[in-house]
Amino acid sequence: MGDFATRLRPILCVVGARPNYMKMAPLIRAFGRHAGVPATLLVHTGQHYDAEMNSKLFQDLQLPPPDLNLEVGSGSHAFQTAEIMRRFEPVIDAHCPSCVVVVGDVNSTLACGLVAAKKRVPIVHVEAGLRSYDRAMPEEINRVLTDQISDVLYTTERAARDNLLREGVLGERIHFVGNVMIDSLLAHRGRAVPAEQILHRSGIPQSRLGRWHKFGAVTLHRPSNVDDAGTLRALLSTLRTVSERLPLVCPLHPRTRANVDRFGLGDLIASDNLLILPPQGYLEMLGLMAEATVVITDSGGIQEETTALGIPCLTVRENTERPITVEQGTNTVVGHDHAAIVAAVEDILQTGGKRGRIPELWDGRAGQRIANHLAGWLAAQHHVVA
Ligand code: UD1
Repeated sequence: MGDFATRLRPILCVVGARPNYMKMAPLIRAFGRHAGVPATLLVHTGQHYDAEMNSKLFQDLQLPPPDLNLEVGSGSHAFQTAEIMRRFEPVIDAHCPSCVVVVGDVNSTLACGLVAAKKRVPIVHVEAGLRSYDRAMPEEINRVLTDQISDVLYTTERAARDNLLREGVLGERIHFVGNVMIDSLLAHRGRAVPAEQILHRSGIPQSRLGRWHKFGAVTLHRPSNVDDAGTLRALLSTLRTVSERLPLVCPLHPRTRANVDRFGLGDLIASDNLLILPPQGYLEMLGLMAEATVVITDSGGIQEETTALGIPCLTVRENTERPITVEQGTNTVVGHDHAAIVAAVEDILQTGGKRGRIPELWDGRAGQRIANHLAGWLAAQHHVVA
């Protein structure tokens, strides 16, 4: 760390939920290596806490354990957001950070951003400017509001800048740096757990593994897909139909698992062609995605990861905040229609699906770019030549 950086107050880096970890890991690494960036403190809000949603991913991503855990846990959006704010305020008071770094669009991102804004601590938002233009999505509210109060906004795709400018964000605050999630993917791709190992570990006997030499991988967890009994029933029926053509591996998010049980839909997923798994580690998910014939998902990050891996992705939503994955990558937004989803899978089986290309600056160096820029920005704030 350079002389100037040692004199600066630390940076508070916030994570709360699973999709934050793969974005923060490359940042922590890049900040640690950059002489112009002050020390970092990693704060975990505790929004996610199950080992398989949390500590397992920290290990896989070689992310150091958090310096502080606010242990907020689950609750309604209002409860969770308020409780994170209440517990994060004394952390800011204690450390007087030179800035707070938040990533993505989860409740922890907005809650900690709001506290920092009221304390006049600069906010750095990584993955700014993505918009689904669907305000029924809780993440969309988190994105719009976090961007409004951020001082430095790092974007993953060029369209994000236009979205931000339309909302009145100053152009000088916006910096296109690439995608830190893809930094993680490229760093760990070689350590991915082979799909065969995951299938075998999950109890598929060696004699039946042949049937699974081609498979699809599925993740569904958006409230709009899994919180309504009728919607979830229809989606699971569609997956069952697809699985008769192509066996499906489905790691289930705790929200989805709970709703399958609550709505009595267990029978729909009891099939030899559907392998239901608990949430998987990062290296397991990488292995499953990299070897899948198709990935069917409602996740944001997986749309990007499949584009980076060149694996066809069907997004079971009516919109995406990541249009570049459709325009340049392997993603197709299929919506919820049974026939459309079944036909899209059939097309991929026949043709191999979209090949796509790697979007600009998704090259594994976004973390470094952010560290370089942030060092200069912090120096400028303190009127020092970095
Ligand atoms: C959150 C994010 C979402 C992200 C997802 C990834 C928001 C608004 N949503 O949604 O953007 O895609 O994480 O997983 O921040 N639960 C557990 N164990 C845990 C965590 C959660 O069992 O470790 C269960 C609880 O019943 C909880 C429910 O999952 O109520 C939902 O968790 P929550 O953090 O509120 O939102 P996610 O659906 O995970």
